[in-house]
Amino acid sequence: MCGIACLVGNKRAPEECYNALEKLEYRGYDSAGMALLTKEGIVIHKKQGRVENLKDFAFNSSSNIVISHTRWATHGEPNEINAHPHISQNKELALVHNGIIENYKELKEKLKEKGVNPVSQTDSEIALEIIAEEEGTVLQKVKNALKKLKGSYAFAIIDKKTKSIIGVRKNSPLYVAKTTKGIMLASDIICFNSLADEYHLVQENEIIQISKGKLKIFDENLKQVSISFTKMMDVGHIADKMGFEYFMEKEIREIPAVIKRIVSNYQDKKIIKEVVPFFNDIEKIVLIGCGTAYHACMYGAKLLSSVLNIDCNAYIASEYKYSKPIISEKTLGIFVSQSGETADTLGCINLFKEKGAKTLAVTNVLHSAIVNMCDGKLPVFAGAEIGVASTKAYVAQILVLYLLSKHLENPDYELIEELTLADKSKQVIKIDKEIVELIKASSKVFYIGRGYDSISSLEGALKLKEIAYISAEGYPAGELKHGTIALIEKGTPVIVFATEKKLFEKTMSACEEVCSRGAKVIVVCAKDTKIRDEFYKIELPSCENEELESILSIIPLQLLAFEVSKGLGYNPDKPRNLAKSVTVE
Ligand code: F6R
Repeated sequence: MCGIACLVGNKRAPEECYNALEKLEYRGYDSAGMALLTKEGIVIHKKQGRVENLKDFAFNSSSNIVISHTRWATHGEPNEINAHPHISQNKELALVHNGIIENYKELKEKLKEKGVNPVSQTDSEIALEIIAEEEGTVLQKVKNALKKLKGSYAFAIIDKKTKSIIGVRKNSPLYVAKTTKGIMLASDIICFNSLADEYHLVQENEIIQISKGKLKIFDENLKQVSISFTKMMDVGHIADKMGFEYFMEKEIREIPAVIKRIVSNYQDKKIIKEVVPFFNDIEKIVLIGCGTAYHACMYGAKLLSSVLNIDCNAYIASEYKYSKPIISEKTLGIFVSQSGETADTLGCINLFKEKGAKTLAVTNVLHSAIVNMCDGKLPVFAGAEIGVASTKAYVAQILVLYLLSKHLENPDYELIEELTLADKSKQVIKIDKEIVELIKASSKVFYIGRGYDSISSLEGALKLKEIAYISAEGYPAGELKHGTIALIEKGTPVIVFATEKKLFEKTMSACEEVCSRGAKVIVVCAKDTKIRDEFYKIELPSCENEELESILSIIPLQLLAFEVSKGLGYNPDKPRNLAKSVTVE
């Protein structure tokens, strides 16, 4: 969370940083700010809320050296005082931070004893003062201060004395590139899109110093080292809504193209063949992710255990990491992450590496930390996903895991029905207005299903919660009667996924149970399925392979959440309290 964009360039650096910061808003939008080095010293401008609040200032200011930040609040409420950048009390340094300083309370007390009273509630300001109080050059100050900080960080610091920007990181991303606008330091290479041919991922033991026209990298002993650049890759038309009002709608409507791309990229089997050896001689598979990606892991675990005769289980990264997991060299870790930067997921990869276990990334962002850390990768080819709620990336993740399981089951498996999936997905990008109005008027909604459908229930409910702020619960249909059914009242909407044919009758029994308690039942099922007349129906094209039907079933529910959010007057792209990339634990 939090986005950093910094530039040492020409006088228009504030404007260029603003443009970069807009691209980073997916990382948080509680507040935004920039610090400019001017003849008068360091000038700070920050505002609560969206990056656009900086526009007038950025376009009417001039400076060659700028650091800027968009915040997802961790420590301290999202107000102007807590917004970044922070300026040191001696006015010599200004700092922006992405991450969490875990020992900030203890450090704050020590600073207070020395008479340094921070003005904000943030851990970031404490880190700044710890750096500022060190002796020596700015490089020495940073080097020594880092030894005192526990936690994660990407810092960018303006040093007034050397007229330079310093960059360092630990467990938070930070990239640097020589762009047509100057030398830029940023949280994501999307900021360099069409401005640079290559970039460098700042390494955890490096300190970067950028001054006019010069980029220097030092190792932990402050010895200057050479820089290795990586060729820029196409990161898509990230800022382009292609005529849609919201990225989320654009991204849902892109799903048929994403499916087509995945099926065609995976058809020649080269990508999968590269990872097949990972499955040799293993005793169990652990799939790890967070939120929507965790749901994809559940899906993957079910698919893989149906074709391999071994234990396959899905875990929430933040739980797994602290659960004393049993990992051996015969355990395969599969890490699912759209962004490839989720701190909890990355933390789990380290556990696997320590035990010498194999690691496989299933991700959408190929320049991400997850790809750098894992032994192998399965790209999901969803294209840049900007809407905070994951839509096309989820469909892409489960489709890739499905294709993997098919190949592992039978290496000669030919994709036939899969070739029709893109066209079939076009038919499900619609939702009945009556259903939208019913959900809009409800204060709670249940999503139920069995088998794969129970996973879709979790994901459908998560979408509604996160962007429409309606209490929504996803539940296995068979488990409902063991307690949760007590919450069903007259008029409570219950959305029932029913794609698993062998479980259909049992799922219908759950419909009857909730219906007789007054629920309004909405069934997500194949077009030709017979259901009671009083039930609403969300129709799916029939698939011979019901796993494919189940992949399609989430799409209309993503659209439902979108329409409900929009209809209630919210911004589905920027749900409250959330950020697209969760780079703190
Ligand atoms: C929900 C959503 C989140 C993410 C989660 C993990 O719509 O998008 O739950 O799935 O934060 O993010 P990644 O996939 O980037 O690791």
